[in-house]
Amino acid sequence: MTMEFDVVTLFPEMFDAITKYGVTGRANGNVYHLQTWNPRQFTDDNYHTVDDRPYGGGPGMVMLAKPLEKAVTAARNRQEAKGLGGINGTKVIYLSPQGRSLNHDVVMELSQLPALVLLAGRYEGVDERLIERQADYEISIGDYVLSGGELAAMVLIDCLVRQMPGVLGDPESARQESFTSGLLDFPQYTRPEVYQGAVVPEVLMSGNHARIKRWRLQQSLGRTWLRRPDMLALKIENGLSGEEKKLLEEFQRAYETN
Ligand SMILES: C[S@@+](CC[C@H](N)C(=O)[O-])C[C@H]1O[C@@H](n2cnc3c(N)ncnc32)[C@H](O)[C@@H]1O
Repeated sequence: MTMEFDVVTLFPEMFDAITKYGVTGRANGNVYHLQTWNPRQFTDDNYHTVDDRPYGGGPGMVMLAKPLEKAVTAARNRQEAKGLGGINGTKVIYLSPQGRSLNHDVVMELSQLPALVLLAGRYEGVDERLIERQADYEISIGDYVLSGGELAAMVLIDCLVRQMPGVLGDPESARQESFTSGLLDFPQYTRPEVYQGAVVPEVLMSGNHARIKRWRLQQSLGRTWLRRPDMLALKIENGLSGEEKKLLEEFQRAYETN
């Protein structure tokens, strides 16, 4: 399975950050393909104007609908030409602080799609009529305002790509990460055995895989209890196993007596 990303952006070079580096750099052109579309190249005037003042007044500029519409259409056409259009094909996502919050469930949902067109806004945002006409979804990466949608688009692409089969060297990595099982990840240690007086937990050096597995599960449960009680409540609602209950209670008792 591969995924196609077409990104409409005024700053295509920013995407080098994911296409050239690390895990997403290695996967580029292999398990996913990314193409950018600059709305400036879809303008009719000599100045390549992509923004104008907001109707009703107020600060800043608003992105014009027309060049964006042309860029989104070019992106859709490319995906359609690859046989990725149609009802289950191309979806357009406008990255927006007003969108649905991005989380693991949303990532897993979107990872089922073969192609996405991502629209990165700038300035005060995008003419609302363009969003109404072209966006299937709006996604926010958090309750704060960025200067542009590019970083948000890259966050989304990164999360999607690392879920794809073959991207992480060991498929177990994605399975055991925070959120995948409804829990936070357990703490990790590497050499040296003693660092600034702090010793690696004895169990991790015991070579006893069953004990290590239990300890890690207990740490995940305990951390989620301490740091994300909302997540733990959901996990409990979905049903903890007898072992998970026991491990959590043991963790809570130890924490409360310390
Ligand atoms: C300065 S923001 C515009 C914010 C807009 N005036 C508002 O308050 O809703 C410019 C662009 O950054 C992107 N953006 C800003 N914050 C974001 C967030 N939290 N998640 C996703 N995209 C965001 C959007 O594409 C937006 O069009």
